[in-house]
Amino acid sequence: TRIALVFGGRSGEHSVSCATAAAVLQAIDRDRYEVVPIGITRDGHWVLTADDPALLEGGRAEVTAAEPARVLMPLGSTSAPLVLAEPGQVPRELAAVDVVLPLLHGPFGEDGTIQGLLELAEVRYVGSGVLASAAGMDKHYMKIVLAAHGLPIGPHTVITPRMWQVEKESSMASAAALGWPVFVKPARAGSSLGVSRASNLEELEAAIEAARAHDPKVVVEAAQVGREIEIGVLQGRGDEPPRTTVPGEIVLESPAAGFYDYNTKYLEEVETMAIPAELPPVVAGRLRDLAIESFTALGCEGPARVDFFVNGEDVAVNEVNTMPGFTPRSMYPALWQASGLSYPALLDELIALAAE
Ligand code: DAL
Ligand code: MG
Repeated sequence: TRIALVFGGRSGEHSVSCATAAAVLQAIDRDRYEVVPIGITRDGHWVLTADDPALLEGGRAEVTAAEPARVLMPLGSTSAPLVLAEPGQVPRELAAVDVVLPLLHGPFGEDGTIQGLLELAEVRYVGSGVLASAAGMDKHYMKIVLAAHGLPIGPHTVITPRMWQVEKESSMASAAALGWPVFVKPARAGSSLGVSRASNLEELEAAIEAARAHDPKVVVEAAQVGREIEIGVLQGRGDEPPRTTVPGEIVLESPAAGFYDYNTKYLEEVETMAIPAELPPVVAGRLRDLAIESFTALGCEGPARVDFFVNGEDVAVNEVNTMPGFTPRSMYPALWQASGLSYPALLDELIALAAE
């Protein structure tokens, strides 16, 4: 089976995607799969890269077409990486594989855009389709879909570009009405990029501007008291229902930012996960049910990680990630490992689901 690993990309999570690709390159069974590693630079060039995981590791790796020595070397050569397609074009190599693994996070990758491209090209790919990817990427619409299915979500408000332009005062007032502190997030971003915490009106305005640098649409959420618990979900084979992992917990000793931010997630050497999370069995069971319901509500396929806030018996779905991080320090593969599916077996399963 020929697999294209597509990674990097134009979103702020470019380096996270490179780290994910490195881990996949390391783990994938070369006897079973022929792997074509295709990087997308930050400006949208598609390049054939070396499949040396060491070049992609860490939270700061980058695909570039210009400086091969510093980043990725082309396959079997030491000259500049082989550019497969210019920005705005599509490489024909994509159509020459059996399955594409779009290991992309954030806009132009996790948001339905590459999924639509692959649908048009009639290429099989791992993960959710166009709608689930788009809805999962957009925290505004994700909440609408989850709420419409009766799933518990937290209090929040949305600030569209137009509202910020013409109703700034009332936008700020509705955000402040959630009670301090609030978390301010770009509607379509991941890995906590552009997210900050605000405890008064002055901080709120700065936080909204910071989020708007990533996305003109902003979601403001009431701070949730409670523990951060995450569950991995995997589509079932055939007509089987989705499968879930044991719950994992985000444990932060004293994060510099006061929450699980980008640095804590990828750059600092700190222990951030407790697997399995210590929870009463009835709560764990309820979370697993809610994870499946959230996955189904959005129409997800392949993998997803559902994140919760849990306070005693009180639970709220925070978000659904349709292409969760697969880095060595990521929760999703660790949850599956703890639930009996090793990293290579998880990859096999994802590829088999895509080929079904
Ligand atoms: N957005 C990051 C990759 C995650 O959800 O794991
Ligand atoms: Mg996320």
